[in-house]
Amino acid sequence: MKTNENPTGGTMNPGEAGSGPNPGSAQAGRRSFLLTILNVAAAGLTAILAVPYIRFLLFPIFSKGSKKPWFSLGGAGQFSSLTSPISRLVPVKMEDGWLESSGKRPVYITKDAQGQVEVLSAVCPHLGCTVQWSSAKNQFLCPCHGSVFAPDGAHLLGPSPRGMDSLPVKVENGELMVKYEDFRQLQPVKEVIG
Ligand code: FES
Repeated sequence: MKTNENPTGGTMNPGEAGSGPNPGSAQAGRRSFLLTILNVAAAGLTAILAVPYIRFLLFPIFSKGSKKPWFSLGGAGQFSSLTSPISRLVPVKMEDGWLESSGKRPVYITKDAQGQVEVLSAVCPHLGCTVQWSSAKNQFLCPCHGSVFAPDGAHLLGPSPRGMDSLPVKVENGELMVKYEDFRQLQPVKEVIG
């Protein structure tokens, strides 16, 4: 078989002549393709991981809590002379995925440390059991794990990480209005979640 002269003095087969595909550039092309795939995958993963953080940052702006309806608890005057907490049921709408249902949630109308009327959620900030008012002990008691709260909702004893959660209130046309909200449990600081 006829062979070509190699500039270094050796011989080259016909397929190795300069006009054939360059293996070095093919390898570089494969490397750059793989790098592109890796970059796209990394960007996708970063975007997925960033979603919860972005939701956390934007939560106060898009919180459903702000769209919740106000509910009248009755004439505000009747609560000004409260000497101990009284309970009321507040109608609420509950969402579970696509399902929507309605129900009632207990709240307590009481007075805060400054003597102002406040409305407390009856949901225990520990694990969500319903806190009961005990007239005999003059305290709120959680039946599940023994958390105890003062009449103004302050945490006294037990595993609850904070006091009972106060709900937004206002007086409108002489009526005490409350907006029912849910709060994150097991956190020392109150945080609205819906
Ligand atoms: S749920 Fe109330 S103390 Fe645990």
